[in-house]
Amino acid sequence: MKPRISPERPIVIRVAYNGELYELRTFANEYRSLMMLIYDRIFTAGFGECLGMGKCGTCLVEITAKQQEPTSYERNGDINLQRTGRSAENIRLACQLMIDEKMDGLTVRVLT
Ligand code: FES
Repeated sequence: MKPRISPERPIVIRVAYNGELYELRTFANEYRSLMMLIYDRIFTAGFGECLGMGKCGTCLVEITAKQQEPTSYERNGDINLQRTGRSAENIRLACQLMIDEKMDGLTVRVLT
């Protein structure tokens, strides 16, 4: 008897950028972070310049709607976010946000 393989449930994230709203579908572990998903799927000039090292501050997003709190990597994200001069609780470095099931239903606006 063959094992049943259930298809992974897609994670749907809405991204507002440059006056457009994009609905992006992905899966856990398809991309390393929200930054890489946006970088790969939407042409965002000047976005994610350090490719996720958490050093450039060019991957800022504002979380405008969420079903759950997204998972953050345990890195220096808070310190690097402070360097950008942005401190609102709903503003994050997209490279510090892991794509997992908690991100399903998230809506963000690209700030940089
Ligand atoms: S990509 Fe540089 S800080 Fe996020």
